[in-house]
Amino acid sequence: MSTTAISVSASPRKKTTTLTFRQKKERGEPITMLTGYDYPTALALDKAGIDSILVGDSLGMVTLGYENTLPVTMDEMLHHARAVARGAKSALLVCDLPFMSYQVSTEDALRNAGRVLQEGGMDAVKLEGGRERADAVRAIVNAGIPVMGHIGLTPQSVHQLGGFRAQGKTASAAKRLLEDAQILEEAGAFSVVLEAVPAKLAEYISRRISIPTIGIGAGAGCDGQVLVVHDLLGLFDRFTPKFVRQYANLHETLHNAFAEYIDDVESKRFPAAEHTVEMKDEEWEAFLREA
Ligand code: KIV
Repeated sequence: MSTTAISVSASPRKKTTTLTFRQKKERGEPITMLTGYDYPTALALDKAGIDSILVGDSLGMVTLGYENTLPVTMDEMLHHARAVARGAKSALLVCDLPFMSYQVSTEDALRNAGRVLQEGGMDAVKLEGGRERADAVRAIVNAGIPVMGHIGLTPQSVHQLGGFRAQGKTASAAKRLLEDAQILEEAGAFSVVLEAVPAKLAEYISRRISIPTIGIGAGAGCDGQVLVVHDLLGLFDRFTPKFVRQYANLHETLHNAFAEYIDDVESKRFPAAEHTVEMKDEEWEAFLREA
């Protein structure tokens, strides 16, 4: 086992809030966000000093093996949200509302957003869509629940978009995205994710709205950045989007560790003496006499 010391701050950080997001934008300080779906990852992200953890419905693809995010349920989101909430105490915790948990009615949207805070221990919800979600955003915000918007490539609309494709590449599509961002701001969203849109458009939108933009595949002009943690760690085997920078290759690390374990067991190098439980000789002898 590695004994490499990792430098982490000893005292707990101040809790990041939606106000922190706003202040960071005003000061021009980039906001850091990554997805997280379980306790150990949340613990490591929080200790590393991440501003915000997104329990994204991408968990359906990277941890549950679904083809896309559409099958993900509220119960699955809440299960992962609770694990993350147990691990992270300082980061702002945002949880995706899954497909069909907010599209049918404003009442559904509000009830499910409430569950994310009450049952999932999260601080805020995220939902996909622009103008068509303005009423839902308004209702959730009016109930005191912070909402993060998400426009551009919205994975829950993958079939309508014709695949996981970049958005906002024509003048009219770009204008519509700007308007959507403004509508979400006006509806009370505290922040908005811009996914897979041209960098110059993302930067323009970021300057035109007062709430922070969080980019994923949207260039450096956003107020913050988010990535799917499995992409960053090299833990998702199916594909790596072009906009990802991979900081580790954990898939390979896991493969090598598992192969080494199998080899150790098969060749009887594991378990060794230091992995076994001792028993006093007299107890063992008494046992043998009585057995
Ligand atoms: O579900 C998710 O992980 C997301 C990010 C890609 C922004 O929505």
